[in-house]
Amino acid sequence: MTKAVRYDEFGGIDVLRIDEVNRPVPEDRQVLVQVRAAGINPGEAAIRTGAMADIFPSTFPSGQGSDLAGVVVEIGAGADRFSVGDEMIGFSELRAAQAELVLVDVDNLTPKPKNVSWEVAGGLYVAGVTAWGAVHSVQLEKGESVVISGAAGGVGSLAVQLARRAGATVIGLASDSNHEWLQSHSVIPVAYGDGVTDRIKAAAPNGIHAFIDTYGGGYVELALALGVAIERIDTIADFAAAAKYGVKTEPGTKARPGAEVLAELAGLIADGHLEVPIANVYPLTQVRQAYTELERRHTHGKIVLRPDPTRTSPSDKPFLHGVPQAQEARQSRRSLSRRARPEQCRRDP
Ligand SMILES: NC(=O)c1ccc[n+]([C@@H]2O[C@H](COP(=O)([O-])OP(=O)(O)OC[C@H]3O[C@@H](n4cnc5c(N)ncnc54)[C@H](OP(=O)(O)O)[C@@H]3O)[C@@H](O)[C@H]2O)c1
Repeated sequence: MTKAVRYDEFGGIDVLRIDEVNRPVPEDRQVLVQVRAAGINPGEAAIRTGAMADIFPSTFPSGQGSDLAGVVVEIGAGADRFSVGDEMIGFSELRAAQAELVLVDVDNLTPKPKNVSWEVAGGLYVAGVTAWGAVHSVQLEKGESVVISGAAGGVGSLAVQLARRAGATVIGLASDSNHEWLQSHSVIPVAYGDGVTDRIKAAAPNGIHAFIDTYGGGYVELALALGVAIERIDTIADFAAAAKYGVKTEPGTKARPGAEVLAELAGLIADGHLEVPIANVYPLTQVRQAYTELERRHTHGKIVLRPDPTRTSPSDKPFLHGVPQAQEARQSRRSLSRRARPEQCRRDP
């Protein structure tokens, strides 16, 4: 038997539980991955409450999660390009990633570079490919200005860096506590809230060319008020505004970039060109605490679950427990950001 996150009905965080389930057996073109880290995402909470049931229906009992990184432990027919022991980054299309053992389609995996930590690898997929898709969708040219809302969140923290790599001047909307991190990544931080329009205009006197909204709640209207062209506004969070005004929603809810983009992002991380901030790490058994923190909506970077803290590999970082050790996690984050780390989205959001 092996542990997996499960729930039996739509609801709040308290519907989540850890079940003992049968060891999965790989079918054709699948491998069995022993999960070392699995990221969590706001979309999973929306699916769990039933708020997205029209777009992403559920059957029960439901598993949870797309993001994962781990070690191949068993290989199905037609999956022999992999070997037992391979360290991989990938994603589950079956909402199954938050578990000790997960079946993964061979096309949904890419090798984990040795110098990319398990936490970073395990939190990369949803946020990474969404940020990549959103930045590509607004077609930034060198020297243009782009505003990104939720600039220090899971998707936003990667989008700001990818937009900088495209040569744009990036204005990141975030609360004060994230301004230093944004500045350290050559992003112009701007506080959201009353007066944000004037602050953006002051930060970009030559105008705004593009807008990426990773938060919702009126940023599409703000982008339009700033004079940004409809085809250069992308929201990953406000589908009602997108439908009303015709702005983009890429990478969208269906076709999403996959393992190739994951490999590109992993390479950038390994080469020190992209940082994935890790806000906190929880054991799998503390999945409820992890979502409690996530659903406050002020995460800087990613929150990650670790199924088995006792397993280590050369690329492992010390395991940090969740809520009780939050201070330890914060200290670790601070020391990691001082070191200028060389490391540091599934069909569901
Ligand atoms: N369509 C897709 O394919 C797709 C894929 C992934 C995610 N999503 C959606 O995209 C959204 C972001 O995902 P995520 O993983 O980046 O979330 P997250 O990590 O929870 O990000 C939360 C961020 O929101 C910021 N924030 C809170 N209040 C804000 C406000 N009033 N104005 C601007 N920013 C505010 C916080 O910034 P401060 O801490 O600085 O306050 C924090 O950085 C979610 O709604 C998610 O469901 C969609």
